Amino acid sequence: MNTTTTTGKLTNGHRLVLLPLPFQGHLNPMLQLANILHSKGFSITILHTRFNSPNPTNYPHFTFLPIPDTAGEPNPLISDVGMVIRFLHYINISFVDPIRGCLERLMSEDDGVACLITDAQWFGIQSVADELKLPRIVHRTSNISSFLFFAAYSRLTDTGCFGSFSDEETKSKSLAKGLEPLNHQDLSKFLTSDPESACKVIELMVEGTKRARAVIWNTFKELEEGELEALSQDFPNPHFLIGPFHKYFPASSSSLLAQDQTSISWLDKHPPKSVLYVSFGSIVKLEKSEFLEIAWGLANSKQPFLWVVRPGSIGGSEWLEPLPDEFLERIVEGRGYIVKWAPQQDVLAHRATGGFWTHNGWNSTLESICEGVPMICSPAFGDQLPNARYVSDVWKIGVELQNGFEREEIESAIKRVMVNAEGLEFRNKITNLKWKVNRCLEKGGSSYSSLEDLECLERLMSEDDGVACLITDAQWFGTQSVAVGLKLPRIVHRTSSISSFLLFAKSLALLDTGCFWQGSDEERKSETLVQGLEPLKVKDLPKLLTSEPQGVCKVLELMAKATKRAQALIWNTFKELEEHDLEVLSQDFPNPHFFIGPFHKYFPAHHQAAS
Ligand code: UDX
Repeated sequence: MNTTTTTGKLTNGHRLVLLPLPFQGHLNPMLQLANILHSKGFSITILHTRFNSPNPTNYPHFTFLPIPDTAGEPNPLISDVGMVIRFLHYINISFVDPIRGCLERLMSEDDGVACLITDAQWFGIQSVADELKLPRIVHRTSNISSFLFFAAYSRLTDTGCFGSFSDEETKSKSLAKGLEPLNHQDLSKFLTSDPESACKVIELMVEGTKRARAVIWNTFKELEEGELEALSQDFPNPHFLIGPFHKYFPASSSSLLAQDQTSISWLDKHPPKSVLYVSFGSIVKLEKSEFLEIAWGLANSKQPFLWVVRPGSIGGSEWLEPLPDEFLERIVEGRGYIVKWAPQQDVLAHRATGGFWTHNGWNSTLESICEGVPMICSPAFGDQLPNARYVSDVWKIGVELQNGFEREEIESAIKRVMVNAEGLEFRNKITNLKWKVNRCLEKGGSSYSSLEDLECLERLMSEDDGVACLITDAQWFGTQSVAVGLKLPRIVHRTSSISSFLLFAKSLALLDTGCFWQGSDEERKSETLVQGLEPLKVKDLPKLLTSEPQGVCKVLELMAKATKRAQALIWNTFKELEEHDLEVLSQDFPNPHFFIGPFHKYFPAHHQAAS
């Protein structure tokens, strides 16, 4: 069923609730996904934290619902991986109750909630979804390769792989068994100051993803075909690879910082593929010494560069203070341009951009692939490490700096990518991937088709979940186990009176005591009351007999048992008529009973008569 919203947009009547993680690299893909699903006719509610909240005025077609404040919220100005880990632990405990409250409210509204889509890092919400019988789909903002690494991570921690590393290991390029193409040096970089907490977060994220109804990935099949196969073995949930999201809708509207548009006018003045774009995303922090090595590496390479220096991202300084005047003078010469935050997707798509020096956050990596821009990799933590390894060793579309930030190596890497023949090879390979991206988004392409499948699943789920309760005739006793299996409450409607139900409920006992036999001629006329079943008389009993008394008894027994397991009973009778029987009934059947009859006095029954 399609309906029209106040914005005049056709919707399919199904509401999706999306819960993003409040970081730039997670907000961008989640809001892009929201736009994609909205374009398919779903109505969208964004459930969000108050800090780093997206700007609702950029999305008049969505409903925004802030999660109520929790006491002791940590400062969201996160600058290192340890803080990220602590923050994830915190929100997955402290925000669970407020989120449950919001979901309950949304579910009770007329629109209901067809499905909840959360960032994989909101792992604490899986049990809330289970409790509320709300299907949860996980949106994993990163790629499959890094997820597989995380999935294997806790196994490796058990074997001591992440405990500590010898000096030799921290330099070793030998492959880590079971985690190829990662090497031992990569693993050592993965270590945080609190490996146990990091491991726990990863374990919970992986576990929560396994329990989700399905997983949506911001990647495309052609890039990670082998990894998808490996994933499906351990994670049999349906996987939808529908990326790259930003090719459907650009991310500028979800940017938390103002994007400096002068970046584009500066690029306009440069020849094709001549500029190196430098940005390390929204979280990475650098030491002052590293910052200076970067600056001198850039200056010495003699290549034009557009450099994003996020305010506060250099330890101990506000912005550019550590840069010597000499360096700034060279920039003024016109070869370099520094901004606080750039319109990154437009920068990468600009004809003047020839290379991207990146921290390999997944969004940045994917955005670079989409525009065919080769990379220099400086991963800092988390998924950035496997991403960089894939860029340099598997897809071979860039080089990785081996020794952190050293001006000579930086200068050489810039020349390898921007000037040398090697750079041309990277460019050819990444251009090939760019074409694959374009194809996967076309009608019949892998991402296009996966999105169609996802749309189907979401509609189906909303239909399933449209069922608040199953009300069956008491004689449909077999449906009780079906309802339990589907976690659907079943209410029994008993069409007859309580008194007769009590008789049926005791039928087995009657059979055992021989009451169901035909009886002698004398008994057939006996006016004696049946003990425990008054006012029935002995002469009434043979009339209950059928040619197959055992079969009848079995049916009655099953009916009575399934009725006992039902959530409640609705009776077409009224209390004043059967007050005593009601008392007896309540002792053996403690479920709630609703005596709302006689039904036909609300609506006459002639409408139901067969024509
Ligand atoms: C974080 C993690 O660091 C990353 O590893 C993970 O994959 C996602 O979450 P972040 O560090 O911000 O993300 O990096 P990234 O994933 O690359 O996302 C940054 C986003 O900000 C990109 O969409 C990029 O286009 C945008 N951006 C970046 C800008 O709009 N302007 C800029 O100047 C820099």
